[in-house]
Amino acid sequence: MATRQMHLVGYLIAGPTWHNNGAWRNPESDADLALDPRRYERIAQILEEGKFDALFFVDVLTLFDTYQGSFAGQVAGPGQMFYLDPMLLLAAMARKTRHIGLAGTLSTAFYHPFHIARSFASLDHMSGGRAAWNVVTSSNSREAQNFGMDRLMDRNVRYDHADEVMEACDALWNSWDADAIVLDRERGIYADPAKVHYANYQGKFVRTRGPLPTPRSPQGRPVIMQAGSSERGRQFAARWAEVVFTLQHSKPDMQAFHADIKTRMERNGRAPEECIITPAIDIVLGETDSIARERADYLNSLVSAEVGVCDISNAIGVDLSPFPLDQPLADMDITEGARGVLDVVLQGSRAAGLTLREAGYRYGVSQHTPALIGSPKTIADQLQDMFESRCCDGFVICPSISPGTYVQFVKTVVPELQRRGLYRTDYTGNTLRQNIRG
Ligand SMILES: Cc1cc2nc3c(=O)[nH]c(=O)nc-3n(C[C@H](O)[C@H](O)[C@H](O)COP(=O)(O)O)c2cc1C
Repeated sequence: MATRQMHLVGYLIAGPTWHNNGAWRNPESDADLALDPRRYERIAQILEEGKFDALFFVDVLTLFDTYQGSFAGQVAGPGQMFYLDPMLLLAAMARKTRHIGLAGTLSTAFYHPFHIARSFASLDHMSGGRAAWNVVTSSNSREAQNFGMDRLMDRNVRYDHADEVMEACDALWNSWDADAIVLDRERGIYADPAKVHYANYQGKFVRTRGPLPTPRSPQGRPVIMQAGSSERGRQFAARWAEVVFTLQHSKPDMQAFHADIKTRMERNGRAPEECIITPAIDIVLGETDSIARERADYLNSLVSAEVGVCDISNAIGVDLSPFPLDQPLADMDITEGARGVLDVVLQGSRAAGLTLREAGYRYGVSQHTPALIGSPKTIADQLQDMFESRCCDGFVICPSISPGTYVQFVKTVVPELQRRGLYRTDYTGNTLRQNIRG
């Protein structure tokens, strides 16, 4: 039997900072090109050289103003910001690459299925079958207000709504049969009308008539990615997802999450190999372990604890600016609900008796994404260990410096994984779906 192969997905944000809030200050960073499409085209080419399955853009549709009731902290910091529309960048990247999958985030809470179905069918055509949709249900009312709503629907309702959006999109994607275009110049028939159908989808929340004006794309529907972590979010993943992006903090957590999603899939009548689970990992690479450690120390010296506190405020929806930075988290008087969210965001930092400043710093370093720091061999050892211990089916690789980490990773870690027989030496499929199933 062929050795099980690891899958790799590259993490991108169309903005200046990614996980480490000081990385943009490193002179090697390409943050100055955050508005330049060539930055993204170049990253796509680097990742394709490394035979990555896909790259994917996270996306959030607001500038946050929770901290001090102003967006000043996020803009000046800067905190994480999402400058450009990923769908347009993905179209540009599609034209500069041939194999790598191209994943964009669109929220079911804000976009109509018709818009979603048409965008991804178009991207799938433009990329020759490499489109993926990271389905998010959104979790923040600031975004809702940008779309004319006061607040989001409750979480469970958001997921019921999202199920309908998926069904409606499927009905639209299926509205053209694969062989509908006949292009018969002799008889003067471009497409066979009998092979184009109304979608006529009618749910409790969404309706669409169809057909989609866009003929069926190479993959039929884009590869579905998803990252919900709640009970209801996992149920949704088990039904729809082909790639799950997740944040887990220890090997046992990863193993439990991996097993949980695969078990839920089986209960839904899906084979476990129909979905790959890919936890996020931050990477700091050096020629030796000690060079990597020095690089991490330098990067961390650029981190702003205040920007970290601002980002935590935005993530939990509570303004933490009234609290003294040197107050221990445990002594902070915030409401029960907000306390729970804070605990989740800080992932146990409170247990370590941190002050708010220390928590902000830690958040600013990696947003609590587990980091691997070391030489190519050390990093390959750790990825191999997690992969072989059934923690996951691959990884979402998050660079500490863009594009430097990607360049180093592709030049050094990828060949090491290939030598060990753990990773493809070339793309084998014609579409993203074929590559992730390979
Ligand atoms: C690792 C990870 C990455 C995510 N990335 C995004 C994102 O880019 N944009 C977004 O709107 N939501 C993002 N989310 C939010 C989820 O997709 C989901 O919509 C939200 O967490 C609410 O679902 P839940 O309650 O099941 O977690 C992410 C969640 C996780 C765990």
